Amino acid sequence: MNSLDPSLVEQVKKLQQKYAVMGQDLSSYLDGLLYSDYLTYWDYIHLDTLLSLQNPKTQFPDEKVFIVYHQITELYFNLILWEIEQIAYREQLEEKFFIERLNRMINYFRQLEGSFTIMIDGMEREQFLKFRMALLPASGFQSAQYRLIELCSTDMINLVNVLEREALMEYSDLNKQLQRLYWQSGATELASGKKTLTLQQFEEKYSRLFLETGMKYRDRNLRKLYLRHFPNSPEVIARLREFDQMSNVIWPLAHLKSAGRYLHRDTEDIKATGGTNWQKYLPPRFQRIMFFPELWSEQEKEEWGRAGVLHALHDQSGKTK
Ligand code: HEM
Repeated sequence: MNSLDPSLVEQVKKLQQKYAVMGQDLSSYLDGLLYSDYLTYWDYIHLDTLLSLQNPKTQFPDEKVFIVYHQITELYFNLILWEIEQIAYREQLEEKFFIERLNRMINYFRQLEGSFTIMIDGMEREQFLKFRMALLPASGFQSAQYRLIELCSTDMINLVNVLEREALMEYSDLNKQLQRLYWQSGATELASGKKTLTLQQFEEKYSRLFLETGMKYRDRNLRKLYLRHFPNSPEVIARLREFDQMSNVIWPLAHLKSAGRYLHRDTEDIKATGGTNWQKYLPPRFQRIMFFPELWSEQEKEEWGRAGVLHALHDQSGKTK
């Protein structure tokens, strides 16, 4: 028999040590290797499962585009949350790590903004208007991951409805703030002024998670970490400004275009169908959500969601489109 390559013997020794630490017998694990199959691409990424998760409710072909694009978005949201979690739980948060992870998050949002044309131009309007009626009262509004990104990025008070923000500043009670978050105003029926079913169901399912997340990130959200560790770093500040814009202006504006393309109608018509006040809600200039308000001048805040701020940011970083 050919003698074993010495480097292989060395590897086996290391493996033996590794398993011995846990009181395990390497030889049994080697038996397992003998019997196990080679890994395949399709098993590794769970391709069959992935492709079984699109279940249109109607026979309109474009509904598949709608479902898949929402799923793609949720996967990117998940990556953003994944990066935030790594930042938040890093034992020693170095500036380089913070910046690199912020860059990734900005990049994910940039991909989403760039691909939103799939929603804006990639479906037939006639089909959309029909299949959407079969999806009521579900709405992207109910994306919990979108809310989690917000809750992990800033203090809850910065997500409170702009008209009540100042009054609630004094209350550190997160539960109270949670009741007044800005997005509740986006799910009010135009005709009755009541909470929509969309919102009621969303709250029933997720309020507890949102409160727990708010508490968990109270002292470790991106804003807190920035203020604690890098309040004077121009590079960190530039990235945070860009992330703020991507999350709260640029992505919302790309999204708004799709609502405009498919749903643009008179307020009176919308009232008649039990629709929401999205025209008064979705444009970022109305909600004025900023994760890092201290990083914006009074004028930039005043112009939030308008072209001026975008240009200012472009001049500063040379990156944002
Ligand atoms: C044709 C495509 C789309 C249209 C017409 C549309 C329309 C709307 C409308 C009207 C609202 C306001 C709430 C409501 O009335 O339900 C809304 C909210 C929302 N949608 Fe969409 N949407 C589209 C695609 C998407 C996609 C692909 C996502 C990705 C997950 C998404 C995520 C959201 C989120 C997160 C909100 C809440 C925004 C906020 O609170 O600021 N939407 N959408």
